[in-house]
Amino acid sequence: MARVFSGIQPSGTLHLGNYLGALQRFVQRQEVDDAYYCIVDLHALTLEISPDVLRQATLDTAALFLAAGIDPDRCVLFVQSHVAEHAQLAWLLECTASYGELLRMTQFKDKGQGREQVRSSLLTYPVLMAADVLLYDTDMVPVGDDQRQHLELARNLAERFNHRYGETFVVPEADIPEIGARIMDLQLPTKKMSKSTSSPQGLIALSDPPADIERKFRRAVTDSETEVRYDLEHKPGVSNLLEILAAATGGDPAALAPGFSSYGQLKQAAADAVIELFAPVRARYAELVADPGVVADALRKGAEKAEATAAPTLARAQRAMGLLSA
Ligand code: AMP
Ligand code: TRP
Repeated sequence: MARVFSGIQPSGTLHLGNYLGALQRFVQRQEVDDAYYCIVDLHALTLEISPDVLRQATLDTAALFLAAGIDPDRCVLFVQSHVAEHAQLAWLLECTASYGELLRMTQFKDKGQGREQVRSSLLTYPVLMAADVLLYDTDMVPVGDDQRQHLELARNLAERFNHRYGETFVVPEADIPEIGARIMDLQLPTKKMSKSTSSPQGLIALSDPPADIERKFRRAVTDSETEVRYDLEHKPGVSNLLEILAAATGGDPAALAPGFSSYGQLKQAAADAVIELFAPVRARYAELVADPGVVADALRKGAEKAEATAAPTLARAQRAMGLLSA
């Protein structure tokens, strides 16, 4: 059984990109693998977020995980800050990472751009992410395409540490799906759908009512032609709709294209597929919100299990670096 680890930030509502690029596969993997899923609240502190919003988003994200089919009896679901080892290992790894390699992270450049104040944690964030993954002796990390570079850094840090201090960490691999790894904004199809940058019209939230989903798809930006064709470079809007439909139904975007004679037809098909995909999630989410004890219980148990796996790994790394045991 492979050890799987992944995380999602509780920095707003989960969206279609999170679902198709990550959450959907988390649910599949818990059936066959030894999976750990983490709501990475410490990562959410790298950008401005009010304490109330963070508190609520952490609970909402956990409820949406459960609603989407994450089963706390089949995997370990927990909140990052409940397991102190994450921040502790991050410090040790910061002492192996270099300033220069962190400056090269494209997400740091993107997220930092245009801000008056950039938190230093935004620069070191990929090291915390490496700590998340390495603490659990992770083999496989299911993520969307935007995390490719961060995963490469985690691999480099693990290899560097093992080389310098002796075999300590498992070197993890990224698991990026061929279809659905980069869902684009419906209004700006050359930009990825994102909690922090998409407009409400460009983003489909997991909690959106069906009428909103339908309207957003109807208004999705396409192009001035009429041919339905999968061509990321010349037809980003149409290709995104095909990709969404393919990822939601298990098909192939290029093979689906000839089945449509108009953009309107494609938009309707994509909307119907997403509405069908999200309907059970919305229903279960409404039940969970009415019964918050279920979510809190799951997170408490998850943190205990996660800690039991993380603590020996941290101790191993501390010993290897020459820190005395207490
Ligand atoms: P985040 O919301 O940034 O915490 O991302 C959580 C997970 O969703 C990560 O694995 C991301 O790679 C993935 N993800 C985020 N945005 C998208 C997107 N637009 N398309 C596909 N996957 C995404
Ligand atoms: N950085 C990831 C994102 O923004 C979230 C994340 C944090 C993560 N720690 C992780 C993903 C560990 C996979 C593994 O999407």
